[in-house]
Amino acid sequence: MNILTIETTCDETAAAVVTDQLAVLGSAIASQDELHRPFGGVVPEIASRAHVERILPVIDAALAAAGLRPSQLDAVAVAHTPGLAGSLLVGLAAAKALAVALRIPLIAIDHLQAHLYACRLAAGREVFPCIGLIVSGGHTSLYRCRTPLDFTLLGGTIDDAAGEAFDKVAALLGLPYPGGPAIEAAARAGDRRAFAFPRPFIADRGRLEFSFSGLKTAVRYQIQQPGEPPRTEPLAPRRLADLAASFQEAVIDCLAAKSLAAIEESGLRRLCVGGGVAVNGELRRRLEAECMSRGIELHIAPPALCTDNAVMGAIAVEKLKASLHAPLELDVFPAARR
Ligand code: KG4
Ligand code: ZN
Repeated sequence: MNILTIETTCDETAAAVVTDQLAVLGSAIASQDELHRPFGGVVPEIASRAHVERILPVIDAALAAAGLRPSQLDAVAVAHTPGLAGSLLVGLAAAKALAVALRIPLIAIDHLQAHLYACRLAAGREVFPCIGLIVSGGHTSLYRCRTPLDFTLLGGTIDDAAGEAFDKVAALLGLPYPGGPAIEAAARAGDRRAFAFPRPFIADRGRLEFSFSGLKTAVRYQIQQPGEPPRTEPLAPRRLADLAASFQEAVIDCLAAKSLAAIEESGLRRLCVGGGVAVNGELRRRLEAECMSRGIELHIAPPALCTDNAVMGAIAVEKLKASLHAPLELDVFPAARR
């Protein structure tokens, strides 16, 4: 069976063709980073307009890469939750139109479950049950994942997502959007112990929550004291590198500590990590070292499957197997539903 998967939850327009054997036949992705860069973050209205312009060419490109015609598709799957409402609607409308025109089933994808399914795809074997850490621009949450489709939220951020913190701190430091890669690069020349930034809840092992907005404010106060006018001159390179490295280290400390606490509490011995922040090399190295020393099995998808993409929409295969087709009345759900 050939399944077309569509992803438009935030600011990437993506489509892929996968088979029920989890082979990836073709994939296409159009990033909007250039459009949002002048604003230092995703502008929802710009994102939905760009999706409208790009969705059909991106679907065509995925089909061309797979060497298939639309009539050779057996199902169409679309991420309909969570995300930006206007962005989600574009992918959903395209998927519904194809399902009706081609008389094929429509499958609803949960974008967060798809992020963790990327680990299943990369592993080439079963990775459930596991503890799942989703760490992206919109979400930072820990789940107990019984199956690819059965997740229970253990805890999440009470304010900003980790990726959002990277993006906002990058803007404070005068670095470009998206902030994660820019901060990671700047941090390489810095001292991670130069600034003692806060690590909320880290000592409270029973509390599986994150908070990153205080960390962002702490970085801001190193650059500009309350009441002072905004800086006009750029930061000295050494100071910028130290701020980036110390910020990144604080985020990684929190993500690693709470992931390990969730593993301990659950009795599970497997950690799967997904989402754009999981591209971060320092985070990957830390989790690898911590898991290795404790005998925990760790799965982090390769970088191209961590940031938003449609290949991870292969989770639709799990729904097809269970005949979990969506009705044509399927709606978007911008908020995460657990
Ligand atoms: O998963 P994703 O592509 O979109 C959402 O669903 O949010 O994640 C995007 C986020 C952005 O905040 C970006 O700054 C962050 O992932 N990111 C990184 C890195 N690469 C991307 N954060 C830290 N280090 C990176 N290397
Ligand atoms: Zn995402």
